[in-house]
Amino acid sequence: MTLVDPRELYPYLNAILESTGDEVRLGGVVEGDRVFDSRETTRFVWNYGVTLPKMRQLYRRGVDSQWNADDLPWDTDVDLEGKVFDIDPAWAEADWFLKMGKKEQKRLTIEYNTNLISQFMHGEQGALQAASQLTTAVPDMDSKFYAASQAFDEARHVEVFSRYIHEKLDREYPCTQNLFNLIQAITVESRWDFKFLGMQMVVEGLAISAFMSLLQRTHEPLFQQLVRLVLRDEARHVAFGVISLKDFYTEMNEKERRERQEFVYEACVLMRGRLISGEAYERMGVNPETIKATMRESQEYRGFIGLLFAQIVPNMKRIGLLDGWLAERFDEMGVLQFKDYDADAVLESLIMGTDPPTPDMRAAG
Ligand SMILES: [Fe+2]
Ligand SMILES: [Fe+2]
Repeated sequence: MTLVDPRELYPYLNAILESTGDEVRLGGVVEGDRVFDSRETTRFVWNYGVTLPKMRQLYRRGVDSQWNADDLPWDTDVDLEGKVFDIDPAWAEADWFLKMGKKEQKRLTIEYNTNLISQFMHGEQGALQAASQLTTAVPDMDSKFYAASQAFDEARHVEVFSRYIHEKLDREYPCTQNLFNLIQAITVESRWDFKFLGMQMVVEGLAISAFMSLLQRTHEPLFQQLVRLVLRDEARHVAFGVISLKDFYTEMNEKERRERQEFVYEACVLMRGRLISGEAYERMGVNPETIKATMRESQEYRGFIGLLFAQIVPNMKRIGLLDGWLAERFDEMGVLQFKDYDADAVLESLIMGTDPPTPDMRAAG
């Protein structure tokens, strides 16, 4: 096994984390609470009127779309022995999986999804912290209003995922170090546009694609309803990022733009890697390396990973960062073809509660 130095793979993220005395670490999970200082910019502004009508409109939609976690049908009986999640198509034909009994296959599928949902919950905490920081840092009152409404949305998301895990599934999995590297960098970095890039553009862009795919693989009505509500909120959050950054980079010099591009690229590479820990597999007596190899070879899995970028790539284009260096990197990653995908139509239909168009699987290569 070749040992890679995470500091060389992620130089930009690592430089951000160095200010906390920490560094990018790959693999494993985060043990214990993590406490570190971040230097936030706090900005008081005195214009309380509407300065960004589009932002105020998004805020109004956010307020109108608030929901209460208590209103979900928590009395739904979730039978973990029944059909809750589809078997992952990436494994369905693998020898090691076919050798398992039906009961074990089902159990592994539950463990895998429990681990995934746990990572979503930890990511939601990251979004809660980042949205709170944005409230103080953004440069106008309309954006502060919106960021505050997002912080409340994220509190609800942490609440519903946690409640689902503890009431309906068997266990909670700890946050993976891979995910935490990015969450930590987003919360430590003091420039507010980096928080948007890391959270609204990359993490929430990925989350939209991941939630849409999870919805298709889920047959449990309570979870379906929960994910639909979260997804609608997330679509607004990504729109918040796009509106905030749309004209932000036009006047910026090449060096500063490149820093943003490097940050986004490293965040994408980090998130493309395996997000869940090997614990779920080990618990079932399957070697995580075997599963990793199966996934690497699976056409379905490669297509799924490609689709995760169906929001990020076109949104980078919309905010004017998808040129030169970043376009080349996305091309190497095999996701540049999403650049003309109508990400906004998907966000709009999710926000309005209509069926979003599905991206073309073939485009994922
Ligand atoms: Fe969220
Ligand atoms: Fe969000």
